[in-house]
Amino acid sequence: MQPAAHAAKFDTPVAERFRSFGKSIFAEMTALAAAHKAVNLSQGFPDFDGPAIAREAAIAALNAGHSQYARMIGVPALNQAIARRWARAGRGEIDPEAHVTVTAGCSEAIGAALVGLLNPGDEVIIFEPYFDFYTACAAMAGAVPRVVTLHPPAAGGQAMGGRAVPAGSSSSAPAHFWFDESQLRAAFTPRTRAIIINTPHNPTGKVFSRAELELIATLCQQHNVVAISDEVYEHLTFDAAQPHISIATLPGMWERTITLSSLGKTFSLTGWKVGWSIAPPALTACVRAAHQFMVFSGSTPMQHGAIAVLDSGDEYIAGLKELYAANRDMLSDTLRQCGLTVFPSYSTYFLMADHTALGYESDRAFCEHLTKSVGVAAIPPSVFYLTSGMGKDLVRFAFCKKAETMREACDRLKRGLTR
Ligand SMILES: Cc1ncc(COP(=O)(O)O)c(C=O)c1O
Repeated sequence: MQPAAHAAKFDTPVAERFRSFGKSIFAEMTALAAAHKAVNLSQGFPDFDGPAIAREAAIAALNAGHSQYARMIGVPALNQAIARRWARAGRGEIDPEAHVTVTAGCSEAIGAALVGLLNPGDEVIIFEPYFDFYTACAAMAGAVPRVVTLHPPAAGGQAMGGRAVPAGSSSSAPAHFWFDESQLRAAFTPRTRAIIINTPHNPTGKVFSRAELELIATLCQQHNVVAISDEVYEHLTFDAAQPHISIATLPGMWERTITLSSLGKTFSLTGWKVGWSIAPPALTACVRAAHQFMVFSGSTPMQHGAIAVLDSGDEYIAGLKELYAANRDMLSDTLRQCGLTVFPSYSTYFLMADHTALGYESDRAFCEHLTKSVGVAAIPPSVFYLTSGMGKDLVRFAFCKKAETMREACDRLKRGLTR
C-alpha cells in the first residue's frame, strides 16, 4: 500500500505493516485541539453522557460483583438483547449463541472479521473515503485493499467526474456521494475475498440506497465474496426517504454477510467499547477465531450496562436524532456563510465540505489554520483515501456535541473565517 503523503511517520522501529499508516489522525487532531483550546469537531465523540439507565445498570453490575472475565462470545443476556434488537428492526430471528459475538467495540469487530477471514494476498474492496481501521486491519491480515471512490455531488446536484455513471441511479445528478458502477465491477477480481460496506457512511453522511446495495449483493454472489457491513451509525439517519438497509437482509446475503455494530454512536457511549458481530455460523467462526486471541472478551460490567439500554433506549435515540439534525443544520448554514461548499449529510454525525473557495493549499493546511487560529478542530479527510490527491479539497466536521458547543463552534467559525 502507498503511504499517505501527509501521514506523520513513526520515528521508532514499528513493524513494516504499520509504517505507512503513521499516527492516527484522530489522536493527532484531538491533541492539537487541546493544545489550542479549540472546540473539538474532529474526533467523533459526544460531549455529554449516554442514557442514565445504562450507567445505573453498569454501576449495579460493578456492585454486584461482575468484575471477572465475561464469556468469550459475550454475556449471555447481552447476546440475547442484541438478537432481540435485530429482530425488532425487522431483520429476522437470529440465534444469540450461534450468530452473535460481543466484541470490544465495533473497532475490534472490524479487526476480528478481517484477520479471522482473510489470508495474506486476499483482496478486500473498500469504499474511499473510509474509516481508517479498514486499511489498517486489512494490513494486519496481510490482505490487499482495492478501493472504489465515493465522489461528492457537485454544487447544484450535478455529478462530478464527467462520464462516470453513478451506480444504482437513473439520474446522472445524485444529491449524495456516489460511486461509479464500472469502478465497482472492476474492483472484483479472482482474488477478492471480501467487501467492506459502511452504511450509514463515515465521513460522508451517505446512506447506501437499496439499488446500490442490490448491485453490491449481486456482485458478491457472482464472485463468491463476503460482505462485511459496518453499521455503527444504523440508528442515526435523518431523512425518512433514505432509510438504513442492512445488506444481510437482501436475498441471498445472510449466508455471506458479517454485520458489525456497537453501542457507542447510538447511545453516546463511545468509551464503553461494547460492540458486536452478527453472522451465520461459518462466518461467526472466523470472527471468534480472531476475537478469542485479540481480547478474549469485552468488559463485563459494561456488557451488563449495555443490556439495559438495548431493550429500552428508543426514546433516547429519538431525542439524539433531533439534536444531531439541528446541529447539522446550524453547522451547514454557518459553513455556507463562511464560503465553503457543504455536501448534504443524511446520517451519522459527520458532514463534509469543500474548502477550496477559501484558498488553502490542502485539507491539512486548512485544518491546521482552523484549529490554531479559528479555534475549531476538524479532520483533513485525505487520510481516508488511498487514491493520491483525493480529499485534499475537503474537510470533515463532527456535530455530535451539545447545542451550546455547536453554537460556540459556529460563532468562532463566523468570526474567524468570514471575509
Ligand atoms: C465507521 C465506523 N466504524 C467503527 C467505528 C468504531 O466503533 P467503536 O467505537 O464501537 O469501536 C467508528 C468510530 O468512529 C466508525 O466511524
